[in-house]
Amino acid sequence: MFKSNGYAPQLIAHKHPKSAAAEAYRVLRTNLGFAALDHPCRSILVTSAGPEDGKSTTAANLAVVLAQAGNKVILVDCDLRKPVLHKIFEVENHRGLTNCLLQNLDPAEVSKNGLVENLTLVTSGPIPPNPAELLGSGRVRALWPALLERFDYLIVDSPPVLAVTDASLLAAQVDGVILVVRAATTRVEIAREARDQLLKASARIIGVVLNQVKMPARDYHYYYYYHRREKEEEVRL
Ligand SMILES: Nc1ncnc2c1ncn2[C@@H]1O[C@H](COP(=O)(O)OP(=O)(O)OP(=O)(O)O)[C@@H](O)[C@H]1O
Ligand SMILES: [Mg+2]
Repeated sequence: MFKSNGYAPQLIAHKHPKSAAAEAYRVLRTNLGFAALDHPCRSILVTSAGPEDGKSTTAANLAVVLAQAGNKVILVDCDLRKPVLHKIFEVENHRGLTNCLLQNLDPAEVSKNGLVENLTLVTSGPIPPNPAELLGSGRVRALWPALLERFDYLIVDSPPVLAVTDASLLAAQVDGVILVVRAATTRVEIAREARDQLLKASARIIGVVLNQVKMPARDYHYYYYYHRREKEEEVRL
């Protein structure tokens, strides 16, 4: 995934679709296809062991590349403790998931379209006092099948597994879970603990994303060459 350099935009797959990072998200999209060979995998939870591992960034960019491939995608912010998808997509968050659940609204009434073609965003809405209770409720369980009737993919962002129970509750409600591991800082035993907790919650872990990998300089030369070629091709067209 993209190098931590302090200035890469979080929605890089949309803003810089020809970047190496966007290509990495497309590889993730391809790998999702392999995970779905034996079991359907249309609802996907993105989580990680601890805070700031890159869950929201991964969820947002995965949703973008799936939408770019022509799939109808809905991205839902189920981090009801520290929601950020509205910030990543630069939209307001007055109404979202919590309004939909508490006021029994149709998700279409609170969703945002047109930010990226084929992509619908449901922001968190106002933060509730009881996120875990809400996310474990029958209303949330009923929401996913209803959304999968209208969309090809459902991508769910969540809080860290080891901090609160929310992600484990959600993990049991989706087809597959992507576990984000922050290279260099997530300790192996912490990642294992998160994995075990998800498995205990009956999650199907479909893959691990190694995020914020420091790339050797020679790899940058490769990407530079690759993107130069893309630019030349654009000019020729
Ligand atoms: N691959 C990456 N390269 C560089 N920076 C990244 C990458 N992924 C995430 N970040 C940065 O790390 C920070 C945390 O990312 P993000 O919000 O996606 O993490 P999170 O796991 O969702 O955090 P939280 O636990 O608070 O929900 C952000 O500033 C983001 O821009
Ligand atoms: Mg997050």
